[in-house]
Order: sequence, then structure tokens, then C-alpha cells
Amino acid sequence: MLSVQEVSKQYKNSRALNSVSLTFDKGKCFGIVGPNGAGKSTLMKIIANVIQEYDGEIISSDRTGNHSLRKSITGYVPQEICLEEKLPALVNLQFYGQLYGLKGRELHERAQEVLRDIGLTDYGKEKVSIFSGGMKRRLNIGCARMHNPHIVIMDEPTVGIDPQSRHHIFNPIDQLKKTRTYHHLYQPQYG
Ligand SMILES: Nc1ncnc2c1ncn2[C@@H]1O[C@H](COP(=O)(O)OP(=O)(O)O)[C@@H](O)[C@H]1O
Ligand SMILES: [Mg+2]
Repeated sequence: MLSVQEVSKQYKNSRALNSVSLTFDKGKCFGIVGPNGAGKSTLMKIIANVIQEYDGEIISSDRTGNHSLRKSITGYVPQEICLEEKLPALVNLQFYGQLYGLKGRELHERAQEVLRDIGLTDYGKEKVSIFSGGMKRRLNIGCARMHNPHIVIMDEPTVGIDPQSRHHIFNPIDQLKKTRTYHHLYQPQYG
């Protein structure tokens, strides 16, 4: 489904990745482990198309080298939580959904659906500022899933997270894995 081929990344003063090759199959969950500074975040940003300058190739099953396409099939959850604290949870979800082109009824329905998936149905109208760290993390993951991406990339999603929130993070991913196994039956119509 997605193949990383001899990807290297040189920052100004450091070489973060040195010819990394990996293949990710459909319906699978992968963990990237390594010490601080190993290049995990850099690799995830490259796959998610957040970093666009690198050597090597990322090939997705849909088309080769199409950056905007890859952005639409990946959902990226950064290490640092990125939410608008003064706005309600649902509005945050809708904001991200809009960035990915959802609108109208579809946008509203998808926001409700995602809110349920991340176990925050009762908190949709609450401002993010009252949320615990775990709830914010879950909401941030929900934001990255609004456009129903094929690949969800999470950078250290459970650091400092309580067991209940861990459950609400991994459970939906397990569900997603099961449904995505069948995704090859209906290829998306992007581009
Ligand atoms: N924006 C950046 N500019 C310069 N160097 C960076 C930048 N981001 C990361 N690095 C360097 O690249 C290396 C890999 O970092 P990173 O991908 O964040 O590793 P990890 O997530 O495994 O801790 C580190 O040496 C880090 O200092
Ligand atoms: Mg990191």
C-alpha cells in the first residue's frame, strides 16, 4: 500500500535519515521505535507529506510521487497537540474536516461519527480548554481522521496518557484495521 524507498533526509547540520526503506501493507498496524533523535518524527512527517524536501521515494498504491494525493490519503497526528482551545471539540473536528474539503451535511455527520469513535460523544459542545491531556490527544487523533484517510500516522500518541484514553486511542485503530483490510475492493477516486 505504501512503500518508503531509500529515503534520506539532511537537515542543515544533521543527517536525520540515511537511506530508509520500508513497506506498509493494508490493514496492518506498525510501530516505529528508536532512541531520541533517531529520525522517527522526520520519517513520519515525510510520509505524511509535511516535509516535502528529501531524497528517495515514497510510493503509494494509488499513484507515484503525487504529493497532494498523499496528503489526502494520510492523516497525521503531530507529537505536539494542535487544537484551538477556545473552541468546542466539534468545531475543532469540523475545522480540520473543512481543510480536507468536507462540507455541509457530510462534514457535520462525519464530526459526530469521529467524536463517537474517540469516546467523546458527550463532550462535543465543550471547549477544549476544559479537556484532560488524554482527551485532547484523542480529539487531535480524531481531527486527523476526519477525511477518512487510508493511513493514520501518530507521533508518540500515548506519551503521558492515562489507561482509559489509551483504550480510546487503540480501540478505534483496531476497528479501523479490520475495515481497512477490505479497502482494496474499492479503490478511491482521487485526482
Ligand atoms: N527542523 C529540524 N531542523 C534541524 N534538525 C532537525 C529538525 N528536526 C529534527 N532535526 C534533527 O534530526 C534528527 C532526528 O530528529 P527526529 O526526527 O525528531 O527524531 P525522533 O523523532 O526519533 O526523536 C535529530 O538529530 C534532530 O535534532
Ligand atoms: Mg519524535
